[in-house]
Amino acid sequence: MEQDNPKKIYPQGYEPKIKVDENPNIRNQLLNEILKASPTEVVDTDLFAVMAKRRSTRKFKKQIVETEKVDKIIAAADTAPTARNFQGFEIFYIKSPQKKKELIEACNKQPYVNAPLVLVFCKNPDRVKLDFPEHILKKFAIQDATLAAAYSQLAAQALGLSSIWIGMLDEQKVMDVIGTDLTPSSVLCIGYPEQVKFPKPRRNLKELVHVVWD
Ligand SMILES: Cc1cc2nc3c(=O)[nH]c(=O)nc-3n(C[C@H](O)[C@H](O)[C@H](O)COP(=O)(O)O)c2cc1C
Repeated sequence: MEQDNPKKIYPQGYEPKIKVDENPNIRNQLLNEILKASPTEVVDTDLFAVMAKRRSTRKFKKQIVETEKVDKIIAAADTAPTARNFQGFEIFYIKSPQKKKELIEACNKQPYVNAPLVLVFCKNPDRVKLDFPEHILKKFAIQDATLAAAYSQLAAQALGLSSIWIGMLDEQKVMDVIGTDLTPSSVLCIGYPEQVKFPKPRRNLKELVHVVWD
């Protein structure tokens, strides 16, 4: 029976580092344990400092991303809100160096896609079991996938890593490379930055916020 062997819930080739005696009756047990577990390095626990310090990085050290950190980055995605909790997205964790090279080509020849950790976030509107027209379900799935990637991006920053969000991609080429029918929404490339950068300027608050009175 599947539930008697919790190992079966892991995808082939990826098993979280942390070991828990999983009780199938406790929901989110593994997720919670991963999120609580200490990573190998100091984590920035101030959410606002993490947000303020995050910068897109296109030059990574060759240093690998530790499995404990990969676990946390993936677990963070799983904490993101999704439309009615149907979780209309999936993550492809690219381990193959060859596939990473092919993804460079599929992502408009952007060389930094060959990063130490590459996650492709795909939309899965079929998971969104709501009685709405297809275009609404697709809209929910893209929002689910985008939010999940954003959560992972912030988690990576909190763990002392940097990232680049790749939106400029050829959807079909990415699908061919990773072998799926699911459409990608973004590729998140993560690693240790070669250098820490200052925050980029943003527009004035006046241009950002529109106050609606009545
Ligand atoms: C939807 C989206 C698509 C993006 N696509 C790419 C991309 O294909 N290649 C790239 O180098 N950066 C891409 N970026 C990163 C942006 O260029 C970057 O976030 C922006 O310049 C702001 O800089 P910051 O992230 O350092 O604050 C993308 C970001 C977003 C949110």
